[in-house]
Amino acid sequence: MEAEDEYRGKERAVLAAIVVVASIAVASLLVALSYYCYIRNKVSRLGKNSSRDDYQSKTTNFPDPQVTSSEKGLQVFTFKQLHSATSGFSKSNVVGHGGFGLVYRGVLSDGRKVAIKLMDQAGKQGEEEFKVEVEMLSRLRSPYLLALLGYCSDSNHKVLVYEFMPNGGLQEHLYPINGSNALSLNLDWETRLKIALEAAKGLEYLHEHVSPPVIHRDFKSSNILLDRNLHAKVSDFGLAKLGSDKAGGHVSTRVLGTQGYVAPEYALTGHLTTKSDVYSYGVVLLELLTGRVPVDMKRPPGEGVLVTWALPRLTDREQVVQIMDPALEGQYSMKEVIQVAAIAAMCVQPEADYRPLMADVVQSLVPLVKTHMSSSQVGNSSSFHLTKSPTTQDPGKASI
Ligand SMILES: Nc1ncnc2c1ncn2[C@@H]1O[C@H](COP(=O)(O)OP(=O)(O)OP(=O)(O)O)[C@@H](O)[C@H]1O
Ligand SMILES: [Mg+2]
Repeated sequence: MEAEDEYRGKERAVLAAIVVVASIAVASLLVALSYYCYIRNKVSRLGKNSSRDDYQSKTTNFPDPQVTSSEKGLQVFTFKQLHSATSGFSKSNVVGHGGFGLVYRGVLSDGRKVAIKLMDQAGKQGEEEFKVEVEMLSRLRSPYLLALLGYCSDSNHKVLVYEFMPNGGLQEHLYPINGSNALSLNLDWETRLKIALEAAKGLEYLHEHVSPPVIHRDFKSSNILLDRNLHAKVSDFGLAKLGSDKAGGHVSTRVLGTQGYVAPEYALTGHLTTKSDVYSYGVVLLELLTGRVPVDMKRPPGEGVLVTWALPRLTDREQVVQIMDPALEGQYSMKEVIQVAAIAAMCVQPEADYRPLMADVVQSLVPLVKTHMSSSQVGNSSSFHLTKSPTTQDPGKASI
């Protein structure tokens, strides 16, 4: 009996020991498991961050760019907020009118000055542009691209909200535009060189620092906006397309763009590459040099299409001076003009492969801007003269 009790006692002790050991084992297992989960979480977070950094360094190797996700970058406005920012979309706040609709000056409740684009076409093209614009601009950040601050998209309204550029579009200051009563500035040579460089940097960012590259598709002087200090930013990605990643690759697409700026191969075949933007950039450079509209059929025969008229004269020392904007007289050196004219001539080559990359254009313009600025500090002043625009022809949208 005693032996049996002793045996039972031992059995209980062993059982208790087993329970204790098992509990300790389970508890340690739980601790180990939660530690494993913690470490795993941390590692995956680190992994995500570093791959985002990799992406940024691969795609945006550029002074001060940040690629932001759409949730992060943009503010969503109610129509009511934008209505009150523009005093009920009052006529007095209209600063321009483009293919998307009217553009208003506005002040947000926090005091920020903004430009508000109200879509006036209900068609598919407008909706598509709206989507592309929001998608593109929320991903891209560069000091040379106009920042989209936010948007409003309800069942009745599509509105885009941008940073406000007090000096409006470059086009308004180069030549007078139909119906425009805006005050235009006489942009001097130095300012034109700086604008050419900054706009080139905007395109360089899109073509060479974003992957896949972004083709603007509607690069023109009215899509280069000027801030208070006449610094330039490229705007309007409504027509932008993601380019092919392959070297020499192209994207086939419906031909859109603006008359006078569209590269010949794109107009003929719809094949779109970054070189199509380079052509349009060349046309803008010609506008800066000559102060002429890309297409003006009121001009004498042979002078209506800017590229056709200017191209043979760009490489001739004597003739190049004759095509220069008379407003620039006395401001440039022959050497500078020859260099800028050579860049323009390369950009508007009919054969896309002969056109330079935007990085090459930037590299050629940087020393020109630097040299001119240092020499003008000693010599002439570069003031802006206020003039009232007479009216002439608007290049307008092409329906090719
Ligand atoms: N962010 C802005 N700040 C100040 N003014 C602006 C701004 N955006 C546009 N504008 C003004 O509104 C005008 C019209 O711009 P918009 O982009 O709508 O048309 P566009 O460039 O002439 O043609 P498109 O619709 O083909 O781009 C510009 O020329 C400019 O004067
Ligand atoms: Mg525009």
